[in-house]
Amino acid sequence: MTNVKNIGLKSQICYILTSMKILGLESSCDETAAAFLKIRNTKYEIRNNVVWSQVKIHKKYGGVVPEVAARQHVEAIIPVIESALSGMKPDLIAVTQGPGLMTSLAVGVQTAKTLAYSWRIPLVGVNHLEGHLWSFLLNHELRIKNNVSRLKFPAMALIVSGGHTELILVRDIGKYKLIGQTRDDAVGEAFDKVAKMLDLGYPGGPIVAHFAKIGNPDRIHFPRPMLETDDFDFSFSGLKTSVKYHLEQMLPTGNLSSAFVSDVCASFQAAVIEVLTTKTIRAADKFKAQSIILGGGVSANEKLTKNLKLKTENIGLDFYYPEKWLTGDNAAMIALAGYFSKQKAGNKIWQKLKVQSNLNIC
Ligand code: KG4
Ligand code: ZN
Repeated sequence: MTNVKNIGLKSQICYILTSMKILGLESSCDETAAAFLKIRNTKYEIRNNVVWSQVKIHKKYGGVVPEVAARQHVEAIIPVIESALSGMKPDLIAVTQGPGLMTSLAVGVQTAKTLAYSWRIPLVGVNHLEGHLWSFLLNHELRIKNNVSRLKFPAMALIVSGGHTELILVRDIGKYKLIGQTRDDAVGEAFDKVAKMLDLGYPGGPIVAHFAKIGNPDRIHFPRPMLETDDFDFSFSGLKTSVKYHLEQMLPTGNLSSAFVSDVCASFQAAVIEVLTTKTIRAADKFKAQSIILGGGVSANEKLTKNLKLKTENIGLDFYYPEKWLTGDNAAMIALAGYFSKQKAGNKIWQKLKVQSNLNIC
């Protein structure tokens, strides 16, 4: 069994690791995913990373329908696992325990329990957001070089997805403090809703980002919610409503040209990015962070990563974010986070693992 020993200095950690083979499982929303991760002396080898997306099925409803999602997970999970295993056998199973859709999570957790029971191997529950947080460690460059030991703590992590917008102070792997979060819509959800208003399809984030590339971000000045408050919370519901009112004003003129749609997308995206980057940099400064980490589905937004990278480097900090193929929900990140959890918590009995749809990171 793998051992880990923290031999870190104050702001830098270094782990001594041996080897482990992990099956990661993810089913918190509309992706059924399984991955096989091999870890040897801080080198991570992704042997298989299978993601079966239900997006096409939910597209016609304009969003994820929980009951439909759970049924799709039931159908997909065994073939997806079989494909990730390709005949290999793991020493550990890591499964997303929460947060997410209750019935979707239950499919992953019950399958993981069944496998852990029949293979007689340990099982660890993973917080989905912790998976997103460490996903950048699976980037090609970091994976092949020594990675964890180069990280400087504390770090300020911004996790942006379809269900969450959180600022997390990371003192070490497994030591987190939530310092800010959205009070209403998550940022990915706001992207999705704006796309829906513009009739652009689902999921909206990538489509809005696509139109924003050719639009004028200065055409409409949308509000920057909570930009000046002295906390680290966010709010995107008012911004979304502001887009709605703007569209309603324009509709009678029949002026929804593609140039106008692109300008709305660019102006909305600019407002979101200004709030996210400003508050993240401010939080990093207040908590004396040494680096900034970005993760979650919205980190696929190139304008956001570019902007945050620039601002982070301007204040002399390191910036880490996942490569695009790691930004969305996947099980490789769950396997890695499960590996870290196992180091911290040791063996836990699978009988005690419960789905927690509102699981907090700290
Ligand atoms: O992390 P994720 O795959 O699933 C959840 O855990 O929620 O995030 C999905 C969210 C969706 O709201 C999607 O529209 C958004 O990420 N997203 C983007 C982009 N790509 C995906 N948002 C903005 N820009 C993008 N390029
Ligand atoms: Zn996610």
